[in-house]
Amino acid sequence: SDMEAESWAECMDVAVKTALRAGQMVRVSMMQEKRVSSKSTPTDLVTEADQQVEELIISTLREHFPSHRFIGEESSAAGEKCILTDNPTWIIDPIDGTCNFVHSFPMVAVSIGFAVKKQLEFGVIYHCLDGTLYTGRRSHGAFCNGVRLRVSKEKDVSKALILTEIGAKREPHTLDIFLGNMKQLLSAPVHGVRIIGSSTLALCQVATGAAEAYYQYGLHCWDIAAAAIIITEAGGCVIDTTGGPLDLMSRRVVAAGSQEIADYIVQRLKPINYGRDDDDP
Ligand code: IPD
Ligand code: CA
Ligand code: CA
Ligand code: CA
Repeated sequence: SDMEAESWAECMDVAVKTALRAGQMVRVSMMQEKRVSSKSTPTDLVTEADQQVEELIISTLREHFPSHRFIGEESSAAGEKCILTDNPTWIIDPIDGTCNFVHSFPMVAVSIGFAVKKQLEFGVIYHCLDGTLYTGRRSHGAFCNGVRLRVSKEKDVSKALILTEIGAKREPHTLDIFLGNMKQLLSAPVHGVRIIGSSTLALCQVATGAAEAYYQYGLHCWDIAAAAIIITEAGGCVIDTTGGPLDLMSRRVVAAGSQEIADYIVQRLKPINYGRDDDDP
């Protein structure tokens, strides 16, 4: 209803303010000494800042919207279930690009997505170090610091710049598939392939048209929720790696400016199966 739409706009205002505050906290902690430990593998890094920033975000949002649900990377790591219901749900990545953060490599973002009845309503991604704010709201367009975003119209993969990521889990079998996919793209040949260390900022490059496509097997719902609505609202296509509709919990995504380039990735690259975010542990 109109009243509901109105209230989601208010949620988005709070999301933007919260992302800016969280980004400020990320900037400050990046200059301080970091306490780094690892989670599932030695390359799956986490710092105290990841937890503190998530706490700041969730406690702020909960104060405003006590009946809403929250899915956050570090809360999930602490054992909270990652299940998307019809209830208004915030999907949060407090620091996307933790490995970059640890090295002070300046590609680090805060990502806040919001879904109602399992449909994304808006997304906010804040590039903490250059102060760029990406937003997208269903039926209202996508913006970067207030400027309307449009994806690339390129249809020819041989003229594409493609982004991807390899997560922290690097078993010989998954590395073989990853490298096979790289070989397929580099011999297409595409213009270039980039790995920048932040899924959300890579996806934002598709939204601005700076890259033609992004694909990843092994990302999580908090890596894709905010970005998916931003890209969709910029006129892009965000789908599952099988070619079907995006499934937030499926841990895989293809995002592209054009359907043609998305289809190329769906048809020519081999997916890696990482299970689902809502699997029972
Ligand atoms: C990770 C980054 C990385 C991607 C991983 C993500 P995190 O997020 O986006 O680029 O390769 O799959 O998990 O852990 O830094 O929030
Ligand atoms: Ca992480
Ligand atoms: Ca992430
Ligand atoms: Ca994170």
